[in-house]
Amino acid sequence: MRSAAELLFFALGLFEYTSASSSSSPSFSNAVTWIQYGQSAVVKLDTPGYPLWLMDKANAPILHEQAGDSYWPQDKPSAVLLNLTMSLDNKTLLLNHNPILPLSDPNVPPLIEAYQVPADMTTTQIRGLVSNGLLNRQWEGLTLGWRYLALDYDRLVWADPETGPYQNHVPILRFRIMGIGAHSRNDVLDVEKQQVVHVTLQDWKHGSSDAKDRSYGITKIELVDVEESYAYVPAMEPEQEECSLRSWRCADKGLYQEGPPWYRFIWRERFDWYGRVGSLRHAVVRKVDVMRKFVADAGPAMVFAFVILFGAAILVMSMVGTIGSLCNRREKTIRELAEDDRFLGEEADEERYLDDEEEKEVVPSPLPPRSGQDKEEAVLIDLGC
Ligand SMILES: *[C@@H]1O[C@H](CO)[C@@H](O)[C@H](O)[C@H]1NC(C)=O
Ligand SMILES: *[C@@H]1O[C@H](CO)[C@@H](O)[C@H](O)[C@H]1NC(C)=O
Repeated sequence: MRSAAELLFFALGLFEYTSASSSSSPSFSNAVTWIQYGQSAVVKLDTPGYPLWLMDKANAPILHEQAGDSYWPQDKPSAVLLNLTMSLDNKTLLLNHNPILPLSDPNVPPLIEAYQVPADMTTTQIRGLVSNGLLNRQWEGLTLGWRYLALDYDRLVWADPETGPYQNHVPILRFRIMGIGAHSRNDVLDVEKQQVVHVTLQDWKHGSSDAKDRSYGITKIELVDVEESYAYVPAMEPEQEECSLRSWRCADKGLYQEGPPWYRFIWRERFDWYGRVGSLRHAVVRKVDVMRKFVADAGPAMVFAFVILFGAAILVMSMVGTIGSLCNRREKTIRELAEDDRFLGEEADEERYLDDEEEKEVVPSPLPPRSGQDKEEAVLIDLGC
C-alpha cells in the first residue's frame, strides 16, 4: 500500500492530466501497446457514448467503494484499458487478471473490471500509467482519477478449446463491451458504435489443444467494427428468455454446439459467484456450497456433538444390557427360590443338582452364582420385566 501523500500526489497528477489532455490531438494508432511482444499488451478500447468521469479531488474518499458521488460525467470521449497477458504457463490468456481464453469455469464467467481513461490518451501516457502499476493491481480499491468500471461483455471464441480438441490450435477471442457499471449506475452501450477486440493466439507446440505441453503466444490484436466481427453469428443478443429452474444452466442458445462454453453475453446482473442466476444449476450449487460452509464452520462442534451422542448411545446400550441381565438374574432367583420352597425339607441334593443342570440347558446364559447380592439387586431395582 502506498503512503497517503504519494497517493494524493498520484491522484492530483491524474486530475491535472485529465484537464490538460483534451487539448492534445486525437490519435488512433495508440490502441495497442505491447509490453512484451507475444506475451503481454495493453489495449485502449474506446467506449463511444459513455461519459468520461472527472474525479472531485477535494472531497473524494480514499476507498473507491465509497467514492460513488465523487465523480462527475464530462461530455468527452472515453475508453477503458485492457491488460491482455498470457498466464505464466502460457496456457491461458488473461484479461485484466481473469482467465478469458479458456475460462477457468465455463459455468461462471468472470467479472471483468477496467480503468477508464480519456479516449485520446497517447502510447507514452499509457506506458506512464503502466510503470505506475495501474494495470498491475497496485492501486486496487483506492479512489483514483481513473474511474474503475465493471463491464458487461460479449465473449465469443473461434475454435474455443472447450469445443476441441484442435490440432495446431489458433483460437481467436472476440471481446466487446455491451454495458458499463459505475457504482450503482449502469449503462448499456450502443452496439453499432462499439469496436470489438480480436485477439489471436497460436499454440507454438503445434500439437493438440489438450496436450500437456501446449504453449500459446499472442500473435495478433486488432480492433474491428461490429459488422465485420461476427460473420457467422448474430452481432446482437437474441431475445432473452427468462431464466427459470426448469433449465439446468439457462445457456445462451444457438451459439455453439451442445457443450461448453455455455454463455456468450455476460451481463453482470445475470451472474454471480455460483453461475447463472435463476437456473437450477445455480440453486443446486448454492445449496451445496451453503451445506459445505456449514459443515466447515461447524466442523469441530459437530465432531464434539457426535462424540457426546456416541457416548450417550454407548451408555444407553450398556444400561439396556445390564438391565437385561438383571432381569434374567431376577427370573432365575425367583425360580430358584420357588424350587427351594418345593424341595424344602427334602434331602435331595442330587435331584436339585440335576434340576440345575436341566435349567442350564433351557437358559442359554450360564447361571450367575446365587448370592445374597443378587437378591438384593432384584429387590432394590424394580425392573418391570
Ligand atoms: C512462455 O512463452 C514465452 C515466450 O514464448 C517463453 O519465454 C516462456 O519461457 C514460456 N513459458 C513457459 C512456462 O513455457
Ligand atoms: C497484466 O496482468 C498480469 C496478470 O495479472 C500482470 O502480471 C501484469 O503485470 C499486468 N501488466 C501490466 C502492464 O501491468
